[in-house]
Amino acid sequence: MNDMGSIVDIHTHILPALDDGATDLEMTRQMLRMAYEEGVRYLFFTPHADSYNYNKLSRIRKNMDAIREWCRDQEINLELFLGAEIYYDSDESIKAIIKKLKREKYPTLNNTNLVLIEFYMGGITLQEVIPAMEALFEAGYIPVIAHVERYGLTFEELMELKNIGCLFQLNLCDLFYENTAWENEMNQMARRLVKEKMIDFVGTDAHDVERRPAKVVEYVDYLYSNYDKEYIDDICVGNAERLLKLG
Ligand SMILES: [Fe+2]
Repeated sequence: MNDMGSIVDIHTHILPALDDGATDLEMTRQMLRMAYEEGVRYLFFTPHADSYNYNKLSRIRKNMDAIREWCRDQEINLELFLGAEIYYDSDESIKAIIKKLKREKYPTLNNTNLVLIEFYMGGITLQEVIPAMEALFEAGYIPVIAHVERYGLTFEELMELKNIGCLFQLNLCDLFYENTAWENEMNQMARRLVKEKMIDFVGTDAHDVERRPAKVVEYVDYLYSNYDKEYIDDICVGNAERLLKLG
């Protein structure tokens, strides 16, 4: 764990019964307790953006207030923030995304101009992605690419995305996955991106308490043991404090 004693998790699916994450409030509570025990102190709820098509943002914010109150009662000292994981797969979808962001139908990360974007997994190409990300910049947003190591894009392609100003989020669990050839590739990319200081934020992408839990300790320890300490402080805490207005 770091000297700061705090980790910022910018990517989770913990709000109850909204997406494929926590199925009910009980699971939400277990996940929050786990995150806190793991050393997370600032946590973003980033449900898949589709859930905002069926639920009013105001209702979700109200739910968050009730969850905050429960945390206080339980002495779980977590600061909770709202965002969304927004799925991009086509030219059409980027126009719709921008419209929904402008109308505040989709939330940005903690009301900043940063938005968490995930790409279509089945072989997305740089040619598709660059104009879409440029459209987001033009509309005034900064894309944070969710689990950037997962799309099969090459290191050089990811450099291009970085060069136009995209920010990158790493799924901590991807540092260790190596059961299949695909996972091994992803794992190598995750480590290379950290080594080359291309990652800006970390997240658990927690969906439940077993299969994809809100675990961070073993990964964060690994990062501190293997990479530059100041840079790891930045990706675990500093960048989020600075760019996502946590204070
Ligand atoms: Fe996710």
